[in-house]
Amino acid sequence: MDGARSKIEVFDNPETLAAAIADLFVDCAQTATTERGGFYVALSGGRTPTRAYELLAQEPRTNAVPWKDVFIYFGDERCVPPDDEQSNYLLAKQSFLDRVQIPLGNVHRMRGEEQPDQAAAGYQKILIEDMGADPRFDLVLLGLGLDGHTASLFPGNPLTAETFVEAPYVPKFSAHRITLTPRVINRARRIAVAVEGIEKAEILASVLDKAADPAIYPIALVLPTDGELTWLVDRAAASSLQK
Ligand code: 6PG
Repeated sequence: MDGARSKIEVFDNPETLAAAIADLFVDCAQTATTERGGFYVALSGGRTPTRAYELLAQEPRTNAVPWKDVFIYFGDERCVPPDDEQSNYLLAKQSFLDRVQIPLGNVHRMRGEEQPDQAAAGYQKILIEDMGADPRFDLVLLGLGLDGHTASLFPGNPLTAETFVEAPYVPKFSAHRITLTPRVINRARRIAVAVEGIEKAEILASVLDKAADPAIYPIALVLPTDGELTWLVDRAAASSLQK
């Protein structure tokens, strides 16, 4: 993956990686609220960001974030109720949203309990109502799956739709997912992809190869139109990258 506005930052271990993700959130929140009065962020699901989320609910970071002006969205969601252990919303709720002073109305979960296409259409409507006809997040946090997926953009059905939210059927799970599309992800001012662990070393090296095919590695669709892409990785995940 190439891009004039992308960079890779390598951290010694999962804890320093988590601190860097949390610090990026704080920095983007302070900049966005100062410059535009609000911070619009799409959270990643999965295991990697959990520690960073926990750090956002602790001193010193929790008091550095203007929570009343922070507006939380999600990059993707499983088609499950919000109290299901698979829910990305539940993960964020338990790891920090329940422990910071953010107004309930500022958190916009994808309604995984609804019929997938309706949930996707409803979420698209919320994005447009909140951010206008061409929604632009200040920050989109993403992870990287072992198969090269990100959000719920999976191999075989990477979405290049002109919509902002879709509900693709994912054969490997025999289930639908709700996901932001590359169109709205790439509009973001900042995109941060967090990758941790030796098990991700091979896929990270593959997707960072300039020739990475989006049909095989959907994360190769992530290319900011006029924002900045940062890969935040720990040393184990970076171990297969050429020096
Ligand atoms: C999800 C995530 C997904 C995740 C990757 C990496 O709903 O599962 O949005 O895209 O970021 O699968 O997951 P881990 O961080 O658990 O490895």
